[in-house]
Amino acid sequence: MTRFGIIGGGLMGHGIAVALALAGHRAGVFDTDPAVLVSLGDRVGSALSRSATPRAQVTAVSDRIVAVESLAELAKQSEVVVEAVSERLAVKHDVLAALEPHLAPDVPVWTNTSVLSISEVARAMLHPQRLVGVHWWNPPYLVPLVEIAPGTDTDPDFVDHAHALITELGKTTVRLHRDVPGFIGNRLQFALVREALHLLAEGVCEPETIDTVVRASVGLRWAAVGPMENADYIGLDLTRAILDSLAPSLSTETSEFPVLDRLLAQKRAGRASGRGLLDWRAGRAEEVAARLEAGIRHNLPARLSGPARHGGSH
Ligand code: NAI
Repeated sequence: MTRFGIIGGGLMGHGIAVALALAGHRAGVFDTDPAVLVSLGDRVGSALSRSATPRAQVTAVSDRIVAVESLAELAKQSEVVVEAVSERLAVKHDVLAALEPHLAPDVPVWTNTSVLSISEVARAMLHPQRLVGVHWWNPPYLVPLVEIAPGTDTDPDFVDHAHALITELGKTTVRLHRDVPGFIGNRLQFALVREALHLLAEGVCEPETIDTVVRASVGLRWAAVGPMENADYIGLDLTRAILDSLAPSLSTETSEFPVLDRLLAQKRAGRASGRGLLDWRAGRAEEVAARLEAGIRHNLPARLSGPARHGGSH
């Protein structure tokens, strides 16, 4: 049993707490928003009911997750600290700077940043060698992948330690040789999103069509056979020929996303504002959340049937 301290009890913080508690660890959670701590128990309860935890275990698991009153108290209790606060560099810097005076120098600190550079996040630290990028996917108690990356100053022993602990949870753990914004998963995901926006801007199709194509083709394929295995499978000569024809017409845009800008100017920001690329009629958000979790569960066996399960290190 390891005593974790999680800073930030939002969507990811509470989900990571559930993933850790399900594996028998203790998770203290601190958040500057008192409402987040007040609702922690309820949110953990509903995550556990969605995670199909046997009823007999629910109390023991949720008892291992406790709200913590202050950063100093969290530092005192924790053998590993997980930073899961809002994705703003200044906020992460403030939190780490406030944490470290209370924390022994050998206690590992993991950041769950999605797209910030680990080396940049570490810049505010007294002991940057202890910061490791440990990137979970939502919901953390369900999605197998956890990506691990060092910053330029990270001591490899802290990376090894994170890798071993996360792998023990039964996660599919991958380790990057070096820090790049977005780790691997978000870089691949947003390369696809950029191309989808390009197709929309060029008037090729409607947003719904993009989703239909992905869900009925590459989404199914990639759950079973990854793009590198598939490239070998179809042949690298064919892969090269396809890229020769296709690459010149793919988006390389870095700043102009007119489809998003037009919708945002119309206050169509997606789910939260009722309309975005799609129409978010009442009930759609709940239906999407349920479909997402059910779809991930449905695809989990594919992970176990191929070599991807052995992706435990580089
Ligand atoms: P969230 O907005 O749900 O939660 C962030 C929490 O941090 C809030 O409860 C907020 O009150 C708290 N917070 C802000 N400043 C704080 C401070 N100074 N001290 C303590 N708590 C503070 O955000 P979410 O989605 O949980 O994201 C957290 C981190 O995880 C971000 O770095 C994000 O990029 C990353 N992440 C998010 C994923 C997602 O699917 N939402 C997936 C993987 C990573």
